[in-house]
Amino acid sequence: MSFQAPKGTFDWLPPSSEQVLAVREALVAPVRRAGYGYIETPVFEDTQLFARGVGESTDIVSKEMYTFPDKAGRSLTLRPESTASVLRAVLQHGLHNGQLPVKLWYSGSQFRYERAQKGRYRHFWQVGAEALGAEDPALDAELIVLGVQGFAALGLTGVRLLLNSLGDRACRPAYRAALQEFLRGLDLDADTRARIDINPLRVLDDKRPEVQAQLAGAPLVVDHLCAACKAYHEEVRSLLTEAGVAFEDDPRLVRGLDYYTRTTFEFVHDGLGSQSAVGGGGRYDGLSEMLGGPPLPSVGWALGVDRTYLAMEAEGLLAGDATGRLQVYGVPLGDDARRRMFLLVDELRRAGVSADMAFGGKGLKGAMKGAGRSGARFALILGERDLAAQAVQLKDLTTAEQTEVPLAQVVDVLKGKVQ
Ligand code: HAM
Repeated sequence: MSFQAPKGTFDWLPPSSEQVLAVREALVAPVRRAGYGYIETPVFEDTQLFARGVGESTDIVSKEMYTFPDKAGRSLTLRPESTASVLRAVLQHGLHNGQLPVKLWYSGSQFRYERAQKGRYRHFWQVGAEALGAEDPALDAELIVLGVQGFAALGLTGVRLLLNSLGDRACRPAYRAALQEFLRGLDLDADTRARIDINPLRVLDDKRPEVQAQLAGAPLVVDHLCAACKAYHEEVRSLLTEAGVAFEDDPRLVRGLDYYTRTTFEFVHDGLGSQSAVGGGGRYDGLSEMLGGPPLPSVGWALGVDRTYLAMEAEGLLAGDATGRLQVYGVPLGDDARRRMFLLVDELRRAGVSADMAFGGKGLKGAMKGAGRSGARFALILGERDLAAQAVQLKDLTTAEQTEVPLAQVVDVLKGKVQ
């Protein structure tokens, strides 16, 4: 019997696994430069954290959670997102009692039992950043700018920024009622009707053309913002404009999580088909209180690493592969040479030169093939005659030029060449 990775999951293998590591690093470099500290939380949490935090009425909580009892009967859930976990950790450790905002970033696996398709997986990777405990439009703008910079650092040019405001507890209820009244007058199926009561904003997000056609005249939240939310939103918009960040106002942008207030945004890429969001986020001023904490107005985003990789593929940015990391490849011929090469490779690595060697007793031809495939720039060929002369053949695999170097000097010679 042979096993396959579970449906909706896949393995990252070299060389693309190296590229995806580089993607993660590039996406978080801007927030690290902006004073965000690294946080790691468990991949599973008390189920109630997500039920309350993300919201019972969302697809994530009602359909997509990997929930299981542990051996003591506690209900645990593999994290479908990390904002609730980060806030839980902040409250648990009292980080909010120090300097505000608390700025944190993370990188890790997320789990959602979704209908699997290209760009939508059951196990996927996000990097994220959260700024907790400050209500300031400059903080919203900062995070958006840092997200834009992450995508730009990867060379992506096709990422668009969609921006909206969802109002706050002062103005959202009246908007929600107006939207519900409008939706009740439409010709919708039973499931969608049920949604009107539970989560009417999500109906706006229905992708079916027959539903979209009826939504043309739906009331928009931007037209129902209270004065404070309107001023806040205008300030975010003007800071982004001043920072030279292009955005599109999208009054129909609603997000799939219930905790959002005011600023919401999404980064989309048109080369990805229907799963076009490469990242998203917004402000969640009420989440702390929903989790039993003090008022802690906060804002954050998460960027999809797998989808960002796909976007890079769509833009042809992955052409040069990342196999060039190995610098030296050892080719020992015979047992004595193999023993000496084992030590030489170790010495090279200690000196900071990346090195590998042929294993499995390969002959010259097979080992040289291995050297070529390894992507290394140099091969070190060590035969019996070389050993007797205390020398090694150094071959530059890009020019095929070969020189003899004394064994005692080869580490220094290579150190000089690979720098
Ligand atoms: P989200 O929009 O659910 O937000 O996810 C953020 C990003 O994760 C998406 O834009 C997408 O790139 C990626 N993503 C989501 N689901 C999948 C999937 N099934 N397969 C592949 N990639 C996926 C959040 O998770 C919020 N916690 C963001 C946030 C942080 N809001 C405030 N702070």
